[in-house]
Amino acid sequence: MSKLVFFMVLILCFACSGDENNYVEISENKKLDFPQPDFFPQPVYNLEENPPTEKGFELGKKLFYDGKLSSTGVISCGFCHVQEFSFTHHTHEVSHGVDGALGTRNAQPLMNLAYFEEFSWDGAAQHLDAFSIIPITTDTEMNETVSNVINKLKSDQDYRELFGEAFNNGEVNTQNMFRALSQFMVMMVSADTKYDKVLEGNSVFSEEESAGQSLFEAKCASCHKGILFTDQSYRNNGLSIDPRYNDIGRKRVTGLEEDKYKFKVPTLRNIMVSLPYMHDGRFQSLKEVLDHYDSGVEPTQNLDPSLQQENNLGISLTETEKDQLISFLKTLTDDNFLLDQRFSEF
Ligand code: HEC
Ligand code: HEC
Repeated sequence: MSKLVFFMVLILCFACSGDENNYVEISENKKLDFPQPDFFPQPVYNLEENPPTEKGFELGKKLFYDGKLSSTGVISCGFCHVQEFSFTHHTHEVSHGVDGALGTRNAQPLMNLAYFEEFSWDGAAQHLDAFSIIPITTDTEMNETVSNVINKLKSDQDYRELFGEAFNNGEVNTQNMFRALSQFMVMMVSADTKYDKVLEGNSVFSEEESAGQSLFEAKCASCHKGILFTDQSYRNNGLSIDPRYNDIGRKRVTGLEEDKYKFKVPTLRNIMVSLPYMHDGRFQSLKEVLDHYDSGVEPTQNLDPSLQQENNLGISLTETEKDQLISFLKTLTDDNFLLDQRFSEF
């Protein structure tokens, strides 16, 4: 940015520093159109308070792919959240952070975050802007302090300029960093799958996909509900307890015994590419997941009542039904999203 423009930005920032909305709206920094799909609910994320802008998005993307956010300088957000795998850590059951340190959970996909009320497998963060502090400071993830990160960014000319262009007060500070990351992440809307095209009347399911959809509606949609394929509740789906982690799930947040071993019902969009599955990545394929629902559900503490009817545990499925369900789940892949240049590192 030329000195003149920088000076103008400074004046502008000064002129409107009392504004509620801390973003710079000048000709170089336009608000982005949030790509709201017609058939989605209204976003939960407050797009008025932190509207994605061109420069905010650019800054968020740079931060997302920058190893500077970690203590070793090499672990970026994008290291564990790889776009083509729906922003998951492909082939890693639990994610690896700095110096190969093992975490205890499978990296979640990042998409449609604007519609989520809480974040992480147990809902530890209630606001997307508040989430990023967790990976930055977790010892097995980026193992860094927020103030160190801010100091590193402050000593970088490119960052100083970008913060200046993206935000009203132009400051390289924690709030602006988290807001920029959120601007980048809320724009990741995935709603362009065969399933969506069928809803819009622009495609039709094959017989097998259609049979799979009916099964899904009858047996899975009570939890993997609606257009986001999650009712956003915390439940226990009968996974055996892995003594290596003894992860108590939602109880970690609420302290309640009735929440022990419950995890957030995950979205199933782009599920074909986000393997391995479950909070600890224990299953490598959808076939294994369906075998679990069919014959692997255990009478764990707080098992969801819908998975224990009369004397039967789980959801009985024939092999044909499993194939049909998998055909249906394949219609939830959004290649345009997975390859969208706007979100890619290079
Ligand atoms: C070492 C791997 C790793 C790194 C680095 C990492 N994440 Fe994650 N991410 C995870 C894991 C594992 C989870 C699940 C966390 C949990 O449930 O406790 C997660 C969950 C999330 C979620 C919650 C998604 C949801 O649906 O609730 C968001 C948002 C997210 N990460 C963003 C980021 C951002 C932004 C960064 C960089 C500042 C980052 N992550 C860095 C592994 C990582
Ligand atoms: C009682 C609610 C419930 C029902 C019914 C249910 N699920 Fe789930 N599902 C969950 C929960 C909760 C998880 C996450 C569990 C964990 O990781 O601890 C999950 C995880 C999954 C995953 C792994 C997703 C990922 O990103 O790792 C898949 C795939 C899945 N379910 C498919 C299905 C299918 C297909 C059906 C119907 C045959 C079904 N589920 C029925 C609650 C349910």
